[in-house]
Amino acid sequence: DWKTSSFIEEKVNEIKSIVGNQKVVCALSGGVDSSVAAVLVHKAIGKNLYCIFVDHGLLRKGEAEEVMSVFRDKFDMNVIKVDAKDRFLSALRGVIDPEEKRKIIGREFIRVFEEEAEKLGDIKFLVQGTIYPDVVESGVGKAATIKSHHNVGGLPEKIKFEKIIEPLRELFKDEVRRVGIELGIPEKIVKRQPFPGPGLAIRIIGEVTEEKLEILREVDWIFRREIEQSGLDNEIWQYFAILTNMRSVGVMGDERTYDYTVALRAVTSIDGMTADWAKIPYEVLERVSNEIVNSVKKVNRVVYDITSKPPATIEWE
Ligand code: XMP
Repeated sequence: DWKTSSFIEEKVNEIKSIVGNQKVVCALSGGVDSSVAAVLVHKAIGKNLYCIFVDHGLLRKGEAEEVMSVFRDKFDMNVIKVDAKDRFLSALRGVIDPEEKRKIIGREFIRVFEEEAEKLGDIKFLVQGTIYPDVVESGVGKAATIKSHHNVGGLPEKIKFEKIIEPLRELFKDEVRRVGIELGIPEKIVKRQPFPGPGLAIRIIGEVTEEKLEILREVDWIFRREIEQSGLDNEIWQYFAILTNMRSVGVMGDERTYDYTVALRAVTSIDGMTADWAKIPYEVLERVSNEIVNSVKKVNRVVYDITSKPPATIEWE
């Protein structure tokens, strides 16, 4: 629409005049805000924008490939993909406390990002996908921190750059989405459900290992696909799986099994501050459950989380 396209034009001109022909760097996560901010800046300055995509190995199935195919292949942007999986996994070894996990991931993320940015030479500008609610939230009167939200996507708070470019600062989420659509970003990215910066690490209760990540990725993939195929994704705020750290006894053929319990979580919400568990039809839950236990090894039980927020939170950690 007219308002969206004039916003884009105005920002493009503004960014051009501020940046000139200098280089700019951004952290790309594939999340809505950082994606829209990056594409907007790219529209203004093209190849002078360098996106750094840190693959911390805690992403969902297919996610890294999707980010690369959209931004590098479709938009022809400079995207530097850093495979930091081993680094994050070894930093997380033995760690079970959720806040500790967040701190480690936030810290490692900044380090990796800084190392990569330094390789690009002396860069003064950093793009951030900050949106209006973030600006308000970080202001006075903020509620006590329940969880420390390391928004790895739009992060580098602690990174020293001379100038921060935040082209989405005045926009609400739905406006960001409209700008994204207008810029030609695929719907699957623009309408994406929120995904926490620390990724699957806070959806694996207890220690994070490669084996657990593999199990969770498969389970989560099955659940996501079923929700999308049933057309429920438009009504649900977030839907994902959790790998509990619990095993229980089951039976498979004539064999006794002793395997993991996975939990499915789906909630409706306006802003993530409060949430209701989603009343997913039994048939859908049944299909998901059958598919999970039939195709994912080491899982023999599926439960559905029927708690709202509060008192539960959306994530389990
Ligand atoms: P909770 O679990 O606190 O989550 O009800 C509220 C919303 O925030 C997301 N979330 C996070 N996002 N870093 C993030 O970027 C985090 O550490 C984090 N923890 C929770 C969660 O997915 C939900 O959308």
